[in-house]
Amino acid sequence: MPIGPDIVAGVARRLADHVGFELPTWVIEARAAARMARLGLAPADYLALIEKGRGASELGLLVEAVRVGETRLFRHVPQIAALVDTVAPALRGRSRVRVWSAGCAAGEEVATLAVVLAPALPGTTLAVLGTDVSAEAIATARAGTYPEDALAHVPEDRAEWRAGFVAAEPGRVRLRPDLADGVSFERANLLDAAPGDGFDIVWCRNVLIYFGAAAKRRAVERLVGAVAVGGVVFVGYSETLRGVTELEAQRAGEAVYYVKRGTRRDAARLTPVAGVAAVKPGASPAPAPVCDPRSEGTEHLALAGHPDPDELAEALGAMLSMHALRALAIDLDGADLLGDELAPVLRRACAALRAAGVRVELRATRAGARRWVSRHGLEGAA
Ligand SMILES: C[S@@+](CC[C@H](N)C(=O)[O-])C[C@H]1O[C@@H](n2cnc3c(N)ncnc32)[C@H](O)[C@@H]1O
Repeated sequence: MPIGPDIVAGVARRLADHVGFELPTWVIEARAAARMARLGLAPADYLALIEKGRGASELGLLVEAVRVGETRLFRHVPQIAALVDTVAPALRGRSRVRVWSAGCAAGEEVATLAVVLAPALPGTTLAVLGTDVSAEAIATARAGTYPEDALAHVPEDRAEWRAGFVAAEPGRVRLRPDLADGVSFERANLLDAAPGDGFDIVWCRNVLIYFGAAAKRRAVERLVGAVAVGGVVFVGYSETLRGVTELEAQRAGEAVYYVKRGTRRDAARLTPVAGVAAVKPGASPAPAPVCDPRSEGTEHLALAGHPDPDELAEALGAMLSMHALRALAIDLDGADLLGDELAPVLRRACAALRAAGVRVELRATRAGARRWVSRHGLEGAA
């Protein structure tokens, strides 16, 4: 049965209010249609169901159908290195360190945090909590096994990270029991209350990119409220917390993270959401990737450090899925190293964005960035 635009818009609104997702119409239409067919409900009755309290379990199943749960062990090594080599030394000597992985998907991120932090914090009791809105993800995370070949992502010189895993069933590994003891999982919606406060480390990667502006604001408030003064927050490659009053950006190698300030200037003001710096040609390079959810229909993505092609592809894919997106400025000037493997990712994404009616602008004013663009024939890509 065809679903009218009003119903699709109603389902989109319900999802946005409940979990923050901003998704393209076709995704909502296709996934909601499948759920309606499964339940044998007419579109209007389905919408009425998920809008009511008694439809909570169906809303949960719809979230499972539309969410993106992509994850892997040791994702984005530069941030992990910053955590281990810069953040952890400052926490040494503590009897207990508490970590929250918000939007942990099937638990790989939590396992990674436990495995890398334990050798960096000898004598400290580690408590790593993973939360996700998905019941399926949390059930998988609690089972706690990972494909053995995922250990291929461990850098050669970090044998102590590999030692954090032991064999499970054939072809799979699990956390060493002493590490597994410090790990726990809860199903929780990031838009509702945080699962506590006073966390030393909050890790929320590749979650905010799927949210609309209002949801990002709410989620950032939860993250900021949960971290202890002096504690740190890490977000994903294409996400930024620049402009959040309580946080101060720090750079370690190629990674950027945020430290919660001790004084709360402007405490009465609502925490502004991530990403302030609209990227202007000729402005000094933005030190972190920037997405500004407050400029209507326009996003800015500023590359920094040594951009990872997989993460860039995911970030651009998430942008592509924003139904309200009209223009995207991609700033290359802040990247220290633009690898050749980024070029096809950018070319494909620009073509797909253009085909979706999005105006794309590649900004490269730095000589090195200009040369890279011209070497890869990307001048006309956007
Ligand atoms: C792309 S995965 C990222 C997983 C992991 N953080 C990583 O970077 O590898 C995004 C995860 O965020 C979760 N998520 C999305 N919206 C959420 C919300 N409102 N509350 C909690 N989790 C959410 C999804 O269910 C999904 O598992």
